[in-house]
Amino acid sequence: MIELNEDTLSKLPSKIATPSYDRTRLKRGIAHFGVGNFHRAHQAFYIDRCLALPDQQDWGIVGIGLSGGEPLTRDDLETIVGEAHTLGYYTNLITSGIGLTEERIKALKDAGLDHIQLSFQDSTREVNDFLSSTRTFELKSKVAALIKKYEYPMVLNVVLHRLNIDHVQEILEMAESMGAEYVELANTQYYGWAWHNRERLLPSREQLRRAEETTNRFRERVGSRMRVLFVVPDYFERRPKPCMNGLGSVFLTVTPDGTALPCHAAKSLPRLTFPNVKDASVEWIWRDSPAFNHYRGDSWMKEPCRSCPEKAKDFGGCRCQAYLLTGDPDNADPVCDLSPHHHLVTEMVDKASAPDAPSPVVEHPLIFRDRKNSRALSG
Ligand code: FES
Repeated sequence: MIELNEDTLSKLPSKIATPSYDRTRLKRGIAHFGVGNFHRAHQAFYIDRCLALPDQQDWGIVGIGLSGGEPLTRDDLETIVGEAHTLGYYTNLITSGIGLTEERIKALKDAGLDHIQLSFQDSTREVNDFLSSTRTFELKSKVAALIKKYEYPMVLNVVLHRLNIDHVQEILEMAESMGAEYVELANTQYYGWAWHNRERLLPSREQLRRAEETTNRFRERVGSRMRVLFVVPDYFERRPKPCMNGLGSVFLTVTPDGTALPCHAAKSLPRLTFPNVKDASVEWIWRDSPAFNHYRGDSWMKEPCRSCPEKAKDFGGCRCQAYLLTGDPDNADPVCDLSPHHHLVTEMVDKASAPDAPSPVVEHPLIFRDRKNSRALSG
């Protein structure tokens, strides 16, 4: 594995963006537990931009991703937190709340845990438990009370979609009554299991408009007491996101079988053979492997991306989304309204917005992630 430091940074190919500021002046700041790959890659991109601004070099972030899924399933979580605390990291537990008993939260506090983010599916027991396929609403509410009791700042995360987006007012009121300081209302993006459920989960334009309006009214009322982040689904945007800052630019992940990927969803991309850390060095994989070089630069791009002035900002959008929607990962992400395939997303939104749109639950029951459905979808 290449240890990224001043020495190795200066030897990276010129196509790869490197910090323009003095990294040795940065101070260690935050460590994240359970942060998703999307978040880490986007965070790396935006933090790098912030740090390149004048007089912004006296802070920095160190990310440690210890888990996907539920970190509380680890018996040694307290030990990990204690170790990170001793090393001076800011620790953040991202949890569904399942397994967070008073005994454990106390032990985590004693170990030095700084921050907890709790996820809810809805403000009602019925929808929360239906969407999570668990009976966890009461439990999450108890965990929220424990978070306050142990004097943690509280961050609530609720993923929004067609089935719960009309409850935004109630969700925000629930967060307020729980004393949350920060609420993330992140609309579903359509990859993985959400892709298979997109007709059931995509909200209508009117639903999205009402939810944003409600959120803005709520923000005005609570002021700085609670910060509310509202993430719009890609399909409602006109410009694509700079996914992974362009493949092979800032991100490498290794799957449990050793496959190295330039994005956590890249295994779905055709024509690329991804290398394995059991067969090749990470240095070779990052610098020289065809898979990691394929989407560097712009020679792979087709029109309209190739001649587009935005290409240096958005890198043509998301390769995985382009493939999912058009069948060719070299196409522009259809979220872009300059893409000849933009109609694929607008048609989906039109369908979801039609007055006679089918009832998502009755006419298209949700496909839950379980063993049976996993087998059926993997063919
Ligand atoms: Fe793979 Fe966007 S999710 S490039």
